[in-house]
Amino acid sequence: MIPISKPFIEKKDFKYIKKVLENKILTDGFFQNKCEKFIKKKLKSKFIALTHSCTAALEISMMLIDLKKGDEVILPSYGFVSIANAIVLRGATPVFADVDPENLNISPYDIKEKINQRTKAIIVIHYAGNSCEIQKIKNLTKLKQIYLIEDAAHSFHAKYKNKYLGTIGDIGVFSFHETKNLVSGQGGCISINNKSLIKRVNFILDKGTNRYEFIKNYKKKIITTTKNKKYYTWVDIGSEYRAPELSSALLYSQLKKLNFIQKKRKSIWNFFKKALLKLNSNLFTIIEPNKFSKSSYHLFVVIFKTDYLAKNFMKYMQKKGIAATFHYVPLHKSKMANKYFKKKLKVTENIYSRVVRLPLFVGLNKKMIKKIVLNFKKFLNDQK
Ligand SMILES: Cc1ncc(COP(=O)(O)O)c(C=O)c1O
Repeated sequence: MIPISKPFIEKKDFKYIKKVLENKILTDGFFQNKCEKFIKKKLKSKFIALTHSCTAALEISMMLIDLKKGDEVILPSYGFVSIANAIVLRGATPVFADVDPENLNISPYDIKEKINQRTKAIIVIHYAGNSCEIQKIKNLTKLKQIYLIEDAAHSFHAKYKNKYLGTIGDIGVFSFHETKNLVSGQGGCISINNKSLIKRVNFILDKGTNRYEFIKNYKKKIITTTKNKKYYTWVDIGSEYRAPELSSALLYSQLKKLNFIQKKRKSIWNFFKKALLKLNSNLFTIIEPNKFSKSSYHLFVVIFKTDYLAKNFMKYMQKKGIAATFHYVPLHKSKMANKYFKKKLKVTENIYSRVVRLPLFVGLNKKMIKKIVLNFKKFLNDQK
């Protein structure tokens, strides 16, 4: 079976993990620090912290903006459940927005419709590695003094114009989960662009304590027995959000291969695009980056003309040993969301069951790629 994704792990990746085990420093270590410095420099971010997941980074974001009961946050329904959870965990209300049918990114027009005095933040997703209409949305949030959070789980190293996604709004979050372009097992990071939000972040990352200062001093061996220096204490809300050293070591190894990984994904993505467009069929369209965005080529997404075609295509490919899968089920239709939101979202409801993803990962070799394209073609021929 050709899987939908597969982490790019080589012998080289073992080297750093071995180093962690030999050094026996399993938290707050060398690799966590190295990754944070690397990402901060690469993305030109004001603040970066590694977290144990993008989910964690989303929860931190909601604490940083002091989200409370009575506040509303606008998010795409066509998206990941961690965003909605991060909102309701703070007692606030999720307000689901529709997507643009061209790219499955949140619609700035629907955002505009849904902003009101209770709106505290907007969380966008840069779906499949392609920038949403971030400039338009940023203009809206600036005008209304609303926080803008970019979920760039799919989009590490992707750009809008000359800026890296995740560094344009007030906060950006990233994922290094097993299914993403770069993997650390489970992992993520938070990037903060709004300076006023930086001062609390280390407290939240360290279970609501001022441990960060303590550790920094400890590492410099300047701990004295004077008061305030010897202990750290509870100063804010928070949880255990930092990335462990073993997964940080894997991420460091992956970061060193960033250009190779991205180049390879881009070439597979372009191959699929060229081959599928050659089929000259009106039974499907593909999702492409807009002209302002440099993609991370996280997903290859096909939108079929009907649900029936999409369902049958997935079944057909499965039978041929190719995993072609659906993606998000709209959040606003879920049992949980029903408590908060009762409206219809026309585009999302019409499109989600027509979306299919093709396998896309570095280890996809020429033979596999050709097999995928050939079977795509055969499926279309069968429809005639
Ligand atoms: C858009 C989006 N945000 C957040 C997440 C959560 O990422 P993680 O698994 O690192 O918590 C995902 C997971 O795939 C996602 O697709």
